[in-house]
Amino acid sequence: MKNNDELVRKVEIVTSDETFLLTYEREYLTDIYPGMIRYSVRVTRGTETIALFRTNSYEYQPLVPLEPESIACKVAKEWEMALRSNPMEFIYHQTVTKPRAIRPGNEHVVVIMGSPRLEGNCSLLARWCNDRIKEEKIPIKTIYPGELQIHPCIGCYQCYNDGQCVFDDDMDEVIGALSGCQLLVVCVPVYTNSPPAAIKALIDRCQAYHAFRALTGDTHAAVGITLAVAGRKGPENFTCLKTILHSFMENIGIVPIGEIMVDGLDEIRDLRKIPTIQGDINEIVEKALRSLRQTVR
Ligand SMILES: Cc1cc2nc3c(=O)[nH]c(=O)nc-3n(C[C@H](O)[C@H](O)[C@H](O)COP(=O)(O)O)c2cc1C
Repeated sequence: MKNNDELVRKVEIVTSDETFLLTYEREYLTDIYPGMIRYSVRVTRGTETIALFRTNSYEYQPLVPLEPESIACKVAKEWEMALRSNPMEFIYHQTVTKPRAIRPGNEHVVVIMGSPRLEGNCSLLARWCNDRIKEEKIPIKTIYPGELQIHPCIGCYQCYNDGQCVFDDDMDEVIGALSGCQLLVVCVPVYTNSPPAAIKALIDRCQAYHAFRALTGDTHAAVGITLAVAGRKGPENFTCLKTILHSFMENIGIVPIGEIMVDGLDEIRDLRKIPTIQGDINEIVEKALRSLRQTVR
């Protein structure tokens, strides 16, 4: 417990052959979000947690007539009564599931190929990055959000209870890769001034990774570069996309260090018609790798 957290209730329930401890805690997570409070009701037997209920104040929608304080209080009272009347039956009905572990990937570089077109311009960008990084024999993983099962975020905020999403899908692997990498390269086209739907789903679902980092104090840091293409002409076509990608990276501890934005693809159609582009990609990747080597030293 931190300084301003509160132990609302702590009772010892002693039966003929066992002692249980029931605690009801209120934690102020205001350094994560304004006014966020997490409530935990826990039953332990020695060092073993045999029952755990958690809820937080951001889970409750304005039109739902519920609030976390009374729900947690009700659980604490019911559990206390159940433990006092028949502890064996209480234990029988409890299962404590541990959060799914984040398994950090071994790849130092992660490329997200954010276009649904697997043979398009972003695919070229991703391939050039791959080729350059493989020359250095650096382990690299490419993620294709459009090919993965990623349920859109439903804004339930349950990830702020224990750092994991309610959906168990391909995002566990994505978060694992992000949590192990030192360089993230996002290759992305502009769709209606923003990223396409599949990569946007991936971005939103990284909220669970943000929750994990905030709750556990995880400080893994990496750097990120954005390589983007747009059909129309003019730098203004990237304004919104750039803001989204910077927020995405900063939300999960990735420092944006560079970007290449290529506009006018409606006319050009194929990036390979721009003679200097592959050299520009090599240069930005090399710069990122140099900055990594300096950090490692
Ligand atoms: C649904 C959709 C929306 C798009 N919206 C924009 C846009 O808002 N601004 C723009 O400049 N280009 C827009 N484009 C054009 C793409 O950015 C362009 O075709 C890009 O080259 C596609 O990248 P890819 O070849 O990697 O798939 C859009 C394309 C699609 C299919």
